[in-house]
Amino acid sequence: MRDWQAVKGLQVAIDGPSGSGKGTVAADLASEIGLPVLDSGLLYRFVAAMALARDVDLNHADQLAALSIDLVPQMDWRPDGIWFEGENYDEQVRGEEVGAGASKVAACGQVRANLLDVQRQRAASGCIMDGRDIGSVVLPDAQAKFFLTASLRERARRRWAQYKDKHTDTDLEQVLMELKMRDQRDAERQHAPLRQAEDAIAIDSTTLRADEVVDRMLGVLERRKLIVTTA
Ligand code: C5P
Repeated sequence: MRDWQAVKGLQVAIDGPSGSGKGTVAADLASEIGLPVLDSGLLYRFVAAMALARDVDLNHADQLAALSIDLVPQMDWRPDGIWFEGENYDEQVRGEEVGAGASKVAACGQVRANLLDVQRQRAASGCIMDGRDIGSVVLPDAQAKFFLTASLRERARRRWAQYKDKHTDTDLEQVLMELKMRDQRDAERQHAPLRQAEDAIAIDSTTLRADEVVDRMLGVLERRKLIVTTA
């Protein structure tokens, strides 16, 4: 039995750079307060994976926009992943090549606009949504917004450890360089760049465990009366 229950329709936005721990923390927070988690990065990853599969040029905004218009009505974005034609695309979208492609796709304003409605519709009944622009653009009225950060080296170390767990042979310095490039692209792009929403609470997780981050979030939600105790 959970200790907490979220108020009806609660929207929690968790934004931050790659490797800041958004996914882990969102999942742990969700199991504490009973809300679905939606990972918005999957949308950009999915468009990138399909672009790579269909030989669409990742630097060509019009082609990417046309592809996203084509895909949006057929894809099903859910807490258990992104589904297309009856198949869960989770495995196909997780790799580093697709991740790097996703940050190019995400720089395209038309693609972002095409993905906005689906995100708002899914959030309407309450959720924890993680990404880069959730608090600033997608859900500006979310009742709680967190901006999760960690040092570049610590984020690279976490990514590298994930790869190692999956028996993928990668060099830490290489992972660090790739993260740095991705950060730069996400922060410097013209459309919805990665930035902390004015009313977001920043949490630096460099030296915190995931459960300590979740405790801080629970404290904020409790003080704002956005969760109630079930005990
Ligand atoms: O979070 P994840 O690494 O899965 O995201 C992949 C890419 O998608 C990011 O590098 C970022 O460029 C983009 N993204 C975004 N806006 C979001 C979520 C992800 O631009 N809300």
